[in-house]
This record gives sequence, C-alpha cells and structure tokens, in this order.
Amino acid sequence: MDSIFLNTLKGNPGNRPPVWFMRQAGRILPGYQQLREKYSFHELMHDPDLCADVTLMPVRDLGVDAAILFSDILVIPMAMGEEIEWTEKGPVFPKPLAQFDHPTQMLHPDGSKLDYIYRAIDRIIEKRDKNTPLIGFCGAPLTTMCYMLQGISTRASFPKAVKFFYSNREETQKLVDAITEITIDYALHQVEHGIDAFQIFETHAGLLPAEMYQEIFLPAVTKIGKAIKEKGIPVIYFPKGMGNGLQAITPEVCDFVSIDWQMDLSYARQIVDPAIGLQGNIDPRLLYASKEEIERKLKQYIKFFHVNKDWVFNFGHGVVSDTSFEKLKFITDWVKEENWQL
Ligand code: CP3
Repeated sequence: MDSIFLNTLKGNPGNRPPVWFMRQAGRILPGYQQLREKYSFHELMHDPDLCADVTLMPVRDLGVDAAILFSDILVIPMAMGEEIEWTEKGPVFPKPLAQFDHPTQMLHPDGSKLDYIYRAIDRIIEKRDKNTPLIGFCGAPLTTMCYMLQGISTRASFPKAVKFFYSNREETQKLVDAITEITIDYALHQVEHGIDAFQIFETHAGLLPAEMYQEIFLPAVTKIGKAIKEKGIPVIYFPKGMGNGLQAITPEVCDFVSIDWQMDLSYARQIVDPAIGLQGNIDPRLLYASKEEIERKLKQYIKFFHVNKDWVFNFGHGVVSDTSFEKLKFITDWVKEENWQL
C-alpha cells in the first residue's frame, strides 16, 4: 500500500505530515446527516454496507489520508452484557455498574457479539481504494470503565466511577482485567480482518493522578498495545489530559502518542520518549474561527514539522459536531497543498 499515513507511522515520513481527524466519520459530514435521517446510529453501525460507506465517506468528501472504522468504544460494554440504549441524545445506561458490589460477576463477556464489526471491516476492505489505510480502534480500559460504572457524566467528571476506583481496589482490578481480555481479543480480530493501524482512545486519562493511572490502568493499555504491535500493526495511543504523565509511556505501549490541545506540542516532544512519534494537537474548536485565523494558527506547525517528521496532523480531540464541514475541508486541503519546507 502506498500511504503517507502508514509510511509516517512506520518511520518513513514524507514531505508533509499525513492528516486525518478523530470523529471524522460522523455528524460533521453532510452525507452522514442525510443517512441519519433514515437510519439510527445503531443501525448504521450494525449494517456492514452502511458502516463501510460511512467509514469511507471522509476519505471521499474531505480527502483525509486514512479512514477510521465507523463504530464506537461502547461496543465492548455491550459485548460484556451491559445494557446500552442508543437514543437521539446519545448512549443511555439503564443500570450503571457502580451501584453493585461485584460488577464483574454480573457481566457475561461474549466475543461473538462483536462479529458484525468484523463483517463491516471485510466490507470496507472490499470497497476502499487500495491505497486507503483503515484505522481500527478501541477504548482504553479506564475510559471504557468510566462509562460502564457511571454511564454518561456531566462535564465528564465521573464522580461515581472515581469513588469506585478508590473504595473497591480489588473489584476495580477484576473489571480492568475482564475489559482488557475481551479488548485484546477484539483488537486481534480487527487485525486479522485487515486493519492497517490501531488507535487506543483514552479520553478520560486526565481524571486520575498520574501515579494512580500508571499503577492501575497503564499496565492494561500496555498489554493491549503490545498484543497489536506484535502483529506488526502500528499503534497510536490517545491519553487525553495526561499531562506530565506522558513521560511514563514506553515504546512497548505504542508507536505514536496523540497529544491534546492543553499541552504544547514542542513541550510534549521534550517529555515523550524519543522513539515515539506524535499526533495532534490542534484545538478542534479552531473551526469556529475565520479562515485567516485558522491559517495563521496552522502555519505555526510548519516549524515543528521541520524538526519533527514523525508527526501526524490531527486535532487534540474529536471533531465538534456543530463546526463547519467546509472549514474542515479547508484545513485538510491546506495540509495537503501547503509547502511544508522552511
Ligand atoms: O472517529 C470516528 O469518526 C470513528 C467513529 C467513532 C465514534 N465514536 C462514532 C460515534 C469513534 C472513534 C468514537 C469513539 C468514542 N465514543 C469515544 C472516544 C473518543 C472521544 O470522542 O472522546 C467516546 C468517549 C465514545 C462514547 C460516545 N459515543 C458518546 C459519549 C457518544 C454521544 C455523544 C456524541 O459525541 O455524539 C457517542 C455517539 C457517537 N459515536 C456518534 C458517533 C458518530 C454520534 C452518533 C449519532 O449520529 O447520533
């Protein structure tokens, strides 16, 4: 496959950074909005043909350098037997697990409940252009567990989940282990079905002190990352809000780390292991600004690229749903057409 994205991940950078966006396969796309008038999110995810179309839509409509599987991190709680209802307002958890003493005992992990996703991957591989890489993904155990224990939390502070981590260490570990086991199986099936790279979403890494994160959750992420890397598939890890804890990430875990917008990218470069590349970290809300302001901000990254070729252009978090498709296209075109040489 001739792909600037895969080449960069594998240590052979091109003369510009590759570009893709977290949450690119969603509501920002006019074509997605049209499909959502007819189908629910759940239906789009479950139908291999529709799922393949939505996955490939941002490659066609935006021109990004990679597709990311159209699915959700919450497919793991569902495959473990937790009830989730997909409503117009997002996922709803009728029975969050923090209220129970032994949540792991109530779950019945069944990997075959994820088979529909592998059929969708097969369909994407059939439909894609041969040079379009496909990114597979999962949620990291902490982020997945926050939702499992608490459900949706306002301002994503997950107080009930955090209370559970502090007061039930043993049960926390059991649940981490159970999530990690089914997640590794899920990731390896994605690899078998042909994904080209993998991203681990740890959206709520900033919830806990770095030391606690490193003790309880980083070992689980390491197991997942290692299992995928051993298959020769490059791994990107997105620990949002991790701050100085980024220093603890080793090349065993991942090939690239995705940086949030709270952290200066050059500072991240100083503290992250030099064997690990970087992704990020533009504020997705920059899309609210004028094109002139957007371009002024983007130009600041040319200097960074000059000394850091192991870098993937992306936002510091997912695309925000009420921002403009046209400006996202403007940014994608800019990255691909700009002269990145100093
Ligand atoms: O990146 C992509 O475009 C690929 C698909 C993808 C989705 N969710 C589709 C989706 C990915 C990679 C995710 C990851 C995900 N899901 C995360 C981690 C990354 C992040 O954004 O923090 C989290 C925390 C979730 C859980 C989730 N899914 C929530 C809280 C919600 C409701 C809020 C929202 O953003 O809509 C979802 C729904 C969801 N996942 C949608 C999409 C396209 C919207 C569904 C719709 O059309 O109504």
